[in-house]
Amino acid sequence: MSIISNCTADAINDAAAALIKGDLVAFPTETVYGLGADATNKAAIGKIYNVKGRPTDHPLIVHISSLAKLDKWARDIPEYALNLARAFWPGPMTLILPRTDLAKNFITGGQDNVGVRVPSHTIALSLLKEFENQGGLGIAAPSANRFGAVSPTTAKAVEIELVEFLSVDDQILDGGPCLVGVESTIIDCSQNKPSILRPGAISKEMIEDALDVSIGLNTPIFKGTQIKVPGSLESHYTPNAKVFLTGSPTVGDGFLALNSFTTPLGAVRVAAPKTNEEYAQVLYEAFRLADLKGLKRVFVIPPTGDGIAVAINDRLIKSAFEK
Ligand code: TXA
Ligand code: MG
Repeated sequence: MSIISNCTADAINDAAAALIKGDLVAFPTETVYGLGADATNKAAIGKIYNVKGRPTDHPLIVHISSLAKLDKWARDIPEYALNLARAFWPGPMTLILPRTDLAKNFITGGQDNVGVRVPSHTIALSLLKEFENQGGLGIAAPSANRFGAVSPTTAKAVEIELVEFLSVDDQILDGGPCLVGVESTIIDCSQNKPSILRPGAISKEMIEDALDVSIGLNTPIFKGTQIKVPGSLESHYTPNAKVFLTGSPTVGDGFLALNSFTTPLGAVRVAAPKTNEEYAQVLYEAFRLADLKGLKRVFVIPPTGDGIAVAINDRLIKSAFEK
């Protein structure tokens, strides 16, 4: 595995060629780092599942370079979904739509719907465009972490997480820390009304404003049903440390809160974000830092309000869930 820290045009060409050849390329997006593979190549997709240790019936998001490519992967696209795409792509939003024949069972986990996203990070977009120049149709990319663990928001975190599972020809593109920090908003567009399956930086209010309708936020727990959405399992995004959303830390425990809260005596501060946006940005690195320091427990004061706070609380609740 090689880490490419200077993502020149030549480096992007090489990375796209590696994907075409069936290798894995981890790359930055504005949300979190993704572990990419050619979305039409069954063997390459198989490598993603092995490297992540993820059950094969969990679907992957297909990344494309622009809305113009959406109908390769999705059909019967409702007008409201096109409006969402026009409003928020490129950006941190994934649309779930009825699939075309191109989206095979190895991408959709056997479901008739496919998840598609156009990311806004420059490196992700350059890679997608070059991959399409070289004949590619879409890059499947889950977050570049082991199944159930915290998503990586830096190239270093990807390396630490996956180094022992990647092959010599695989690559990690370093694009610096991710600006959003939590995964994309997932919107189910397979029904006559949109509904949010996973909250993210594109908030319920932003979607309602763009569409001029009120919508459901229904991050359902799909336990026991056909649909497998790892981010919707009760326990996910977990560090090794045990996460507490109530109670106070004692000496040696980790502490995470907005910087308006002072650190309790003896606690180890793992981050002190100034705003909710910054809270989302540093959340996963704060959890990683807690693990690096070998902390057994982290006490968190969750952010309040709407917008990105809803996404942060969604991840916090899952990270605190008793396994
Ligand atoms: O921000 C993101 O979305 C990042 C970056 C890399 O794009 N990707 C990401 O992928 O978070 P992943 O695989 O870690 O999480 C994607 C979620 C999973 O919970 C998956 O089950 C769900 O999207 N998903 C994907 N395709 C789906 C489908 N067809 N129907 C329902 N859920 C789907
Ligand atoms: Mg993930």
